[in-house]
Formats: sequence, C-alpha cells, structure tokens
Amino acid sequence: MTSEERLAFLEKKYEEKLKPITDEELGSAARKKGPGGGPGRGMAMQTGKPKNAKASIARLFGYLADAKWKLVIVFFLVISNTLLGLVASYMLRPIINGLTSGEGIEALIRGLSKMAAVYLGVIICQYLQQRIMIGVSQNAIQKLRNDLFEKLQTLPVRYYDTHNNGDIMSRFTNDVDAVGEMMNNTVIQLFSGSITLIGTLALMIYTNVWLTLITIVMVPLMFKALSIITKRSRAYYKAQQAAIGTLNGFIEETMTGQKVVKVFGHEDASREEFNYLNHDLRSKQIKALFFGGIMGPVMGNMSQISYAMTACIGGILCVARGFDIGGLSIFVNYSRQFSRPINEIAMQVNTIFSALAGAERVFAVMDEEPEKEDPADAIRIIEEDGRLLYEIPKGSAYARENSVIEDVVRQDNICYYKEVKGAVTLKDVTFGYNPEKTVLKDISLYAKPGQKIAFVGSTGAGKTTITNLINRFYDVNEGTITMDGIRVTDIERDSLRRNIAMVLQDTHLFTGTVMENIRYGRLDATDEEVIEAAKMASAHSFIIRLENGYDTMLEGDGANLSQGQRQLINIARAAISRAPVLILDEATSSVDTRTEKHIEKGMDRLMATRTTLVIAHRLSTVRNANAIIVLEHGSIIERGDHAELLEDKGRYYELYTGKSELD
Ligand SMILES: Nc1ncnc2c1ncn2[C@@H]1O[C@H](COP(=O)(O)OP(=O)(O)OP(=O)(O)O)[C@@H](O)[C@H]1O
Ligand SMILES: [Mg+2]
Repeated sequence: MTSEERLAFLEKKYEEKLKPITDEELGSAARKKGPGGGPGRGMAMQTGKPKNAKASIARLFGYLADAKWKLVIVFFLVISNTLLGLVASYMLRPIINGLTSGEGIEALIRGLSKMAAVYLGVIICQYLQQRIMIGVSQNAIQKLRNDLFEKLQTLPVRYYDTHNNGDIMSRFTNDVDAVGEMMNNTVIQLFSGSITLIGTLALMIYTNVWLTLITIVMVPLMFKALSIITKRSRAYYKAQQAAIGTLNGFIEETMTGQKVVKVFGHEDASREEFNYLNHDLRSKQIKALFFGGIMGPVMGNMSQISYAMTACIGGILCVARGFDIGGLSIFVNYSRQFSRPINEIAMQVNTIFSALAGAERVFAVMDEEPEKEDPADAIRIIEEDGRLLYEIPKGSAYARENSVIEDVVRQDNICYYKEVKGAVTLKDVTFGYNPEKTVLKDISLYAKPGQKIAFVGSTGAGKTTITNLINRFYDVNEGTITMDGIRVTDIERDSLRRNIAMVLQDTHLFTGTVMENIRYGRLDATDEEVIEAAKMASAHSFIIRLENGYDTMLEGDGANLSQGQRQLINIARAAISRAPVLILDEATSSVDTRTEKHIEKGMDRLMATRTTLVIAHRLSTVRNANAIIVLEHGSIIERGDHAELLEDKGRYYELYTGKSELD
C-alpha cells in the first residue's frame, strides 16, 4: 500500500469514531441565518445539541444533590465573601475622599485597619468554601465513577463484543477527571460570579447612574463574543474527548496484542496508525485550546475598553459636574470587577467544555440498555442442606402454565421447591447476533441430567454460540431453552449463571494468586477444596512446582504461565463450582495428549454428577459422550453416539477417519 492509500484507509476506518465537526456544531449555520441571533440568544451558550448539554448539566447537578446542605453553606460563604469584598472596596471611597479633603493620618490608619479586617473575613470565607466544595465535588466524582462501574457490570455481553475496551477505560479516566476538574472550581465561580455581578451593578448604580450605563454598554457585545467562541470550542472539546478515547483504545489494543504486532512485523503500520490518531488528536486539541485560550484575551480586551471609557467619562464628570474622586476611583474598580466574573467564567471555558464533553461520554455509557431485568417473580436457585432447589413463586409463569410440577420436594404459601437436576433442552432455537445473519437454525437437542453431550463441527459452525445462549449471554430469537423444564428466561439470571459452570474458549485470569483465581469459581470454597479441584483438573502438580505454589501471583492474564497451564486453572475454577451443568468450550485444546488423558480421568469424576456440554476439535475427547451432535453452518446435520455415527458413515465418520478436515 502506498502511504496515500494507507491514509485513505485509516480515514475510512476511523470515519465513524472521529467524525468531522459539522457546521451546525460550529454554529456557523446558525450565524448565516443572520440578524435573528441577537445578544439575548448568544447568552444561551449552547451549541450542537443544546439539549444534551442542558441534560448533562442537570444530571451533574444531580450528583451534587446529596450534599445539599453543604452546598447551602458554600452558597452562604460565597455570598458573605462576595458582599464583604464589595463592602471592603466601597470603604476606599471615604478614605480617598478623606485624604483629598485633608483629614489626618489617624483617620487613614483607622480606615485602612477596618478595611483589612473586612478582607480577613473574605479570606476566611474563601478558605472554608474551597475546602467544603472540594469535599463535595470529590464525593460526587466518586459516586459518578461508582455508577459508571455499576453500569458496566449490568451491560450485556453484546456491549463488550461491540465496544473497544480502551475507549471504555478512557471514560473512567479522562472523562471523569474532566468532570471533576470542573466541579472543583466552576460551581463556586458560577455562584460567586453571579453574586459579584449583581452586587457590583447595584453599587455602581448607587455610585453613579450615568457611568453605569456606559459600562454596561459593552456587556451585550461581550456576550456575543462569548457565544461565538464557545460554540466553536464546545464542538472541538467534544471532538477532543472522543479522539482521546479512540487513541486510548488503539494503545490498549496494541499493548495487549503486542506479541502479534511483533510476530507479523507490524510495528511500522502500528506506528503509522498511532501517528494518524495522535495527529488527529493534536489538531483537535490545538483548535480546542485555541478557542478556549482566545476567550480570555478577547474578553479582557473588551473589558479594558469599557474600563478606559469609564475612566475618561468619569474624569470629565469629576471636572465638570463635581463627582467626587473617591467615587470615581471605586467606580473604575467596580467597572473592572463587573466584567471579572464574565472573564473568569470565560477563562474556564476549557474546563467547562472538556467536562461537558466528558460528562456526555460518561452518560452515554450510563444510558446504554442494560441486560434485560429479571421478571418480578423470577425463579431463583437456592442451596438447602447441600442440595440445589428451584424456588418457584406460585404466581410465576412457570407455576401457572404447569398444573403438575415434577420433582417438587416441598411447598409453602408462596413457593414450590423443586429439585435441580440439570437437564438442558433446546427446542427449535433460531438465533443471529444481528438481524441480517442467522447463526443457528432450528436447533433442537436435549441433555438428560448427568449426560455428556458433545458438539463437533467446523470453525464458525455455531458451537460457542449455543453455549452463549444457554447461559444467556445472548437471548434466542425464536424457540426456547429450558433447564429442568423451566425456560432459562424465567430463571433469575444470577442463579442461572451460578449454576452453569463454564470453561470459556478464551481463558481469562485475574491479577491475584493462583488460589484466588481458582476460588473465583465459588467464593466460599476452602483452601482444601481449591486444592481438591486443582487435583481434579490435573493442575495440582504444576502449581506446587511454581515458585510460591498456590500463593504465586498471576499478572497480566497469567502471562507467567503456559497456555495449557492457564487452561488447567480455568478447568479447576469450573471444577470447584457445585453447578449441576458444566460447559467446556475447547477446554483441553492447549494441553498435551498425556495431560489430557490425566484430565479426562478427573473430568470423568467431575462429569459423573453433572450434565456436561463439551465442545472439542479433538475427536478423541468426545468419543465417550452419550450423544455427539455434528453442526454445520448453524444446523444439526448428524447426531448419535460414537459407534452409531461411525456406522452411519456420514460427516462424523469422515472427520473421525480423517477423510475430511474439520474446516
Ligand atoms: N459476538 C458476535 N457477534 C456477531 N457474530 C458472531 C459473534 N460471535 C460469533 N459470531 C458469528 O457466529 C458464527 C458462529 O460462531 P461460533 O463462535 O459459535 O463458532 P464456533 O462453532 O464456536 O467456532 P470455533 O470452532 O471456531 O470456536 C460465526 O459465523 C461468527 O462469525
Ligand atoms: Mg467456539
């Protein structure tokens, strides 16, 4: 590929994630409409999708609602400090007038000491308000992070299958931090800004009405400038946060896939892609910072103009109309002070817009559709005297549909208690990950309690998909899946999953000791039980040879273990669970044939008491299954036990005798 082709390719690849900013977002479309947008409209300070910004702000305030009383205190502190500040500045008038009318040094000292005392009050208030506010905002941020994490736990597998981890992580770090930054400062600024504005205006009018009018002539112009600049910066900050997310996503992917990058000598291409994303981020950041940065100078200069005009005209008033010099000096002070809050908020535009963009990205995750709620009378699975029971509310759909419920061990006023045996049935199941493509067609099969059912079939045939449906990572489009005759959708999701032990096709180990990782399968398991499970999975012998045995720390998904060892730990994790149903997806694909023989023995013990669904490419491991199901393109093409299938001389026979490759 030439570098132009490569660039075009990258542009296309990131088209969706790094959308260019539209004219509408920049506000130029609105501007073209002409005179309609007067200063009044400019004050709204919104762009792009104003509703989003408003909604985000309202939601952020929701996070502050817990600290209502603290906020009230902060509010009063801000009022006191602002009013005290105004009073202190007004105190200059008699002092200066005293000086010009020849009052003595004593009066000056008295006046200045009073002023100093008032300023001390200002300092104390500011200190307190800052301390309280930081506490309040950090609490809010903690809650925001909590809510985000909670939300991530409720999102369906589909979400993770379709979103980039790095980008999700970026929402926790960059985006939440941006919001925190804003909460620390901006809330107080907004409070104190508006009070200063009103207070100063009142004092200005009190001091001199005509000068006041001159000062506030500039205000609409300032707001107009503010609105034009903020429209742009908001759009760029939004783009910037998205670009950070995309870049983080790419970094995360490259780090976790570093070995693959190296194997295929993909370093240059990775670098190129990184440069592309980094460059994109840079250009957005420059624009964002530029528009954020010119805000201060633009507003500053406008207030300088207003200051100069006030001073000139004030001077003329002093000479021609006898306006007192003390009055003039405090007035020019006020005219500065008046535009200060507008400036300060303008200066914080960086913070505010990164924060709003961040908040939108955080809330976007929070608004994702979670896994469907369990029905109100969902059937739970409970453990009682060492046996598992379905707790079936008498009002539940299952109880209403079945006049006779089998295997009921007892009942009370509210529930039937039925034994969990672990029969799994699929009836006419049809499913596709998305509507365009059906992955499973009309699958019907059953596994009686304790049976071992094996799935074989070429890559992509739909074996893993069947297991994804049984434990409800995804829900079927048509047909039903039942456990002991109860639809899996009627069973509480947690109960269901806790009672289906799974060894997933892609193993995952967490940072922690080997012991902890195995105990993941059942948190209340004792150390002895962990060791027992490890023995059953043939993992014990290699674990005790590790540096610290069961206390060896695993890091980075168990990078210090071999692939096969990782699989053995995963099997041990499933073995420790007391789930009546066990699903093994290619569980032994990475272990050598001798270890596999070992595991098989352990597995036989493990499987003796459980219904097992096993997926394996190695046909030797499925030979002793009660039934073997051969899948092809999402349909069952053969079924039977090993001997029967060989006799049929169909697909299984071909696979087994090596006449046809699996794929
Ligand atoms: N998360 C997903 N989103 C969309 N399509 C998917 C998803 N997972 C799998 N598929 C598609 O579903 C089909 C069946 O995939 P499945 O993982 O069930 O195959 P499999 O039989 O387990 O293959 P293998 O032996 O390689 O593990 C494939 O065509 C695949 O492209
Ligand atoms: Mg699979």
